[in-house]
Amino acid sequence: MIVALDGPAASGKGTLGRRLAAHFGLRYLDTGLLYRATGLAVLRAGGDPSDPEAATTAARALTPDQLHDPALRHDEAAQAGSMVAVIPAVRTALLAFQRDIAHQPPGAVLDGRDIGTVVCPDADAKIFVTAAMEVRAERRFKELRARGLDAIYPAVLQDLVQRDGRDSKRAVAPLRRSADALLLDTSELDADQVFAAALAFIADKTGGS
Ligand code: DC
Repeated sequence: MIVALDGPAASGKGTLGRRLAAHFGLRYLDTGLLYRATGLAVLRAGGDPSDPEAATTAARALTPDQLHDPALRHDEAAQAGSMVAVIPAVRTALLAFQRDIAHQPPGAVLDGRDIGTVVCPDADAKIFVTAAMEVRAERRFKELRARGLDAIYPAVLQDLVQRDGRDSKRAVAPLRRSADALLLDTSELDADQVFAAALAFIADKTGGS
């Protein structure tokens, strides 16, 4: 079984994805980590994440152990990830890794921006998770503070606005809802309500599992 979760930054897809994966006994892949790790590798090598050559080299050299670096959680890595993500050769280089995980038994929950449209168009269930910009910024701000990071609300908001723009407007695999995806707006829902709505949709799609 493959579940595709797409949506903008801080919409709640990560929380939902981990919970669904645990519930169904599936693997879970946060595909944003691949882009963040690629961007971070470029930064650490002293390069510019928007340089196609440097970014593509980093994407091709990516190894799974790079996905556990705590620095990937910082906004610097998120911005760099969003910059390398507009480069078509980077996306191509990261595609096989994502599809390999998706197709290993017993299946997986993948979250990202283009899972339902490009990575796994054949997914059993697709959900587009979204929330109002201010709600997402507030959630991200609280999450960063809870981790002891020195976050400033206007900077968090600006980071999300910038990334949303870049992720939605790029030419290749932009953030877009697949026509067959459930639109799940989490602005006024708590985590349990989001999980219940997703479960009901998946049960419907997969015949009640
Ligand atoms: O989900 P995230 O915030 O960790 O993603 C970081 C960046 O990676 C995001 O701004 C855009 C890019 N990304 C992408 O282009 N495609 C994906 N499937 C996942 C993330």
